[in-house]
Amino acid sequence: MGEVTSPLPTQNSCKIGVVSPTATVRTAVIPAAGLGTRFLPLTKAIPKELVPVVDRPAIHYVVQEALAAGIEHVVIVTSAGKGALEEYFTPSPQVEEMLRRRGNSAVADELRQFAERLTFSYPIQAEQRGLGHAVLCARDAVGRQPFAVILPDDLLVDEQPVLAQMVQAWSKRHGNYLAVEEVPADRISAYGVVDLATEGHLDGRTYRVKGLVEKPSAEVAPSNLGIVGRYILMPEVFDALARTRPGAIGEIQLTDGIALSMEHQPTYAYRFSGARYDCGTPLGLLHASLHMALGRADTAAQVRQWLKDL
Ligand code: UTP
Repeated sequence: MGEVTSPLPTQNSCKIGVVSPTATVRTAVIPAAGLGTRFLPLTKAIPKELVPVVDRPAIHYVVQEALAAGIEHVVIVTSAGKGALEEYFTPSPQVEEMLRRRGNSAVADELRQFAERLTFSYPIQAEQRGLGHAVLCARDAVGRQPFAVILPDDLLVDEQPVLAQMVQAWSKRHGNYLAVEEVPADRISAYGVVDLATEGHLDGRTYRVKGLVEKPSAEVAPSNLGIVGRYILMPEVFDALARTRPGAIGEIQLTDGIALSMEHQPTYAYRFSGARYDCGTPLGLLHASLHMALGRADTAAQVRQWLKDL
């Protein structure tokens, strides 16, 4: 898409009345219906979201992040042939018991927490019509409430999990939140980029946004802040997505839907604290695995030794 700059909403035009001041973010949508062509031939048989980062599938880490942010309902948008995702999150006392017997209580405890504290829904995206369309497929499961969107391709690592950072910012000031990171000029054209409002820096890591530009060249990029895979969105974004027309490659883009909703919703960029690993490519996944293995007491020494021996 080209630049979509929406007028900033006035106080009267903001429909924030649908969310009470005490509202919180209880639901997270994880779009996982993509074809995963960059992981072919593996994705002929295995959803890319189940490819392990060390010993847990990539999607396991983002569900942990959701849990740490107080999420109670996880909506995983899947597609035909990706039933293994539902299988993975279906509680299995036998598997937990086996893990405990083999001395792996930490993973057993994580699975127990998923079973006890989370409810899962699995709407289907019948056709891969883009990320925005995948989020729209979650509309009935989410209902009329603010919700998070977590892309399982982006592994974000920080002492305070990133979605929890964003929920904290959101609770002070409701609206759409987009996680952003600083991107060097030679890579900016791969991102959706935020156009900040004049004097847009509000406080801490939060900025007011007046427009979004999808994949701009470095020359026309309105800032160096690129959108990454964490969002908190107001329910009006669903109405906007239903009106969003497919973009250049025939896909309904999430950024286009958010840009449409900006007429009625204040939108903020949140410059998160932490590191990001792009697990959407085999090489990125290897990078993420190395980082995670080097950060774990049970694997760090061995991996460091192997790297030294190379
Ligand atoms: P990607 O753009 O990485 O697409 O999607 P992909 O199909 O997963 O992978 P490649 O590009 O073919 O290798 C980003 C996220 O959006 C989801 C994907 O599952 C991934 O989590 N997605 C994308 C959908 O759920 N539906 C879509 O139509 C497109």
